[in-house]
Amino acid sequence: MDGRYAKIIGASTSIQSVVEAAQRAARSDASVLLLGESGTGKELFSRSIHQWNHRHAMPLVVINCVALTETLLENELFGHERGAFTGADRLQKGKLEMAEAGTVFLDEIGDMPLPLQAKLLRVLQDPEFQRVGGTKTVSINIRIIAPTIKDLRQAVKTGQFREDLYFRLNVITLTLPPLRERRSDIPALAQFFLERHAREAKRPAITLSPTSMDTLTRHPWPGNIRELDNVIARAVVLSPTDTIEPDVIALAPEDAHLCGKHQGALPYLDLPYHESMDEHSRHIIARAIEKADGNQTRAVEYLKLQRTYLARLLKQQRDRQEGKIESEP
Ligand SMILES: Nc1ncnc2c1ncn2[C@@H]1O[C@H](COP(=O)(O)OP(=O)(O)OP(=O)(O)O)[C@@H](O)[C@H]1O
Ligand SMILES: [Mg+2]
Repeated sequence: MDGRYAKIIGASTSIQSVVEAAQRAARSDASVLLLGESGTGKELFSRSIHQWNHRHAMPLVVINCVALTETLLENELFGHERGAFTGADRLQKGKLEMAEAGTVFLDEIGDMPLPLQAKLLRVLQDPEFQRVGGTKTVSINIRIIAPTIKDLRQAVKTGQFREDLYFRLNVITLTLPPLRERRSDIPALAQFFLERHAREAKRPAITLSPTSMDTLTRHPWPGNIRELDNVIARAVVLSPTDTIEPDVIALAPEDAHLCGKHQGALPYLDLPYHESMDEHSRHIIARAIEKADGNQTRAVEYLKLQRTYLARLLKQQRDRQEGKIESEP
């Protein structure tokens, strides 16, 4: 399993009760609906349920319901027979079929177009279907885990989601609490991400100062655990010292100008040349880390830099800040 989805951190009663419910869910094959804001751990819990289930050695197939048009998504789900449409020169199995005896992870099910919701419902009621352009019936044995940030009950009311499919999926519903409602877990999560990113960045001695920890504990975390993960990843790379102080913990408002909101008002333009360049360079790096979801290897790829070069650059900046090197080369 992807290393990011290997461990669930959290001792708060709100997260522990979801862990227990997930473990109960894993003992059955019932469909599971996972609700929660963005970045609260829906994928982590979905993968854990699959891992704890007797199907764990069988495939976990991910289908993203947002990224595709209705036709493509239908093809992705059900596959097609040879000759089903122009260009269909061979039989192509769909992902439901590929997940045989395993689990299907229907990411963002709330965004599935209504006609496909009807087709999916039919498969759930009577686990068989026909590939696009086919007449042969394919039987399947799959388990569905469906996470979404949408309020599905509301979507049912407004006619965007089929009520019958909702009831079918809703056999077990787990709701992941937002991070701001379980702040007692922040220190442990921060420490967990700190250790992971310290290993990646080869900065084993790095720690969070008590004021930094305090800042983290008070932040509202609209992006939940993913946001915390990214903030720590960035701080580990950018901190000039081995103790991360609050000024390197770039919480959302400080970075706002990177999102184009305050373009033209770059505060570091008024700094001396090297300080200004260093500051600018940190922002570029910070942005790449953010885009790479905290994964440093990918961040380096975005920047088209060698990892060693990036490390040297950051060390140079740290040394300059500590006055170890003169600004003029
Ligand atoms: N309890 C937790 N312990 C450790 N890591 C966690 C926990 N919850 C979430 N994470 C980590 O936070 C990141 C975001 O989690 P995940 O991808 O599961 O969120 P999500 O709810 O699916 O988000 P989205 O709605 O944006 O798709 C992942 O890297 C995940 O490993
Ligand atoms: Mg997700």
